[in-house]
Amino acid sequence: MGYDIALLRGDGIGPEIVDGAVAVLERIGEKFGHSFRFTPYLIGGCAIDETGEPLPKETVEGCLASDSVLLGAVGGPKWDGLPGDKRPEKALLGIRSALGLFTNLRPASLYPALRAASPLKDEIVGRGFDIMIVRELTGGIYFGDRGYRQGKYGEEAFDTESYSLTEIERIGRVAFDTAMKRSKRLCSVDKANVLETSRLWRKTMHALAEEYPEVEYRDMFVDNAAMQLVRDPSQFDVIVTSNMFGDILSDEASQITGSIGMLASASLGASTRGMYEPIHGSAPDIAGQNKANPTATILSAAMMLRYSFGLAKEADAVEAAVNRVLDQGWRTADLLGAEGGEALSCTEMTKKIIEAI
Ligand code: IPM
Ligand code: MG
Repeated sequence: MGYDIALLRGDGIGPEIVDGAVAVLERIGEKFGHSFRFTPYLIGGCAIDETGEPLPKETVEGCLASDSVLLGAVGGPKWDGLPGDKRPEKALLGIRSALGLFTNLRPASLYPALRAASPLKDEIVGRGFDIMIVRELTGGIYFGDRGYRQGKYGEEAFDTESYSLTEIERIGRVAFDTAMKRSKRLCSVDKANVLETSRLWRKTMHALAEEYPEVEYRDMFVDNAAMQLVRDPSQFDVIVTSNMFGDILSDEASQITGSIGMLASASLGASTRGMYEPIHGSAPDIAGQNKANPTATILSAAMMLRYSFGLAKEADAVEAAVNRVLDQGWRTADLLGAEGGEALSCTEMTKKIIEAI
């Protein structure tokens, strides 16, 4: 079978890590008899430099015409001074919205081989954890009205959070369905003691819980969830939450796994076309030095195989290869931890994973 994949390499380490994932997909194609065709498009800072726009029309059209999208990262200090709607990050929100990707799946699990890299005490990580964060991706404060106005103390800036029942229900359904396929435990995270949007969120989730009697459901306030994630991450299976809370909690969840350089994500909508990207950023400090960890992007490509193309065997092969390479002790610089050792470069790590496939 042939698959058309739009490549959004982006900025900073984006090009290096995407190239790693492309090499892995090519190996998978060769081994399992698939052909992947890759077409690059501009997004973020590099798109601003070439076209003046962070998200050129050709990029949106190219992604819409593809079977799936693989993204590296966007942004960097060079473009930090630009106004909000011209920033590279705006392109990321724009493409998520244009492709209707309202679901963001962010798995965070502990690789036994990386236990020492987790900042949590052994007695806590010893229990292990395997969490799936289901983050709402096209609504909430990221997409609400924002701007400047005159307020009580003169000029003020504002951003607004709004959620419709429809938006909450559709992400809620994804979360309950996800929980049904895992250990049937779902925790919905909100701030219903303060926010009206959270009260509607909670009410809607409760109504859905009636439809899924097998799922052990509970609510948690976001401040408590942030605390519980470091106190005992093993208590969580699926977490469902709003756009901004999901952004914050997924970074926290990634750090307790040992490194943000390991965490993949899938952004999905109503069709099988998804966008797959590491949850980390463009790391401008190490860009172009062949030091980045390509694993999160390679695991994102595995999620693409699984969720967009239904190629479970192929996805398993990539994930197993990553595990094997870690078990063999190979590390990129971000995974070295206190005991030190030799760090592989981005291309060397990619090569190890390809060999393991
Ligand atoms: C993420 C990132 C983005 C987000 C930024 C770069 C806009 O932090 O994907 O988690 O906040 O969604
Ligand atoms: Mg983030």
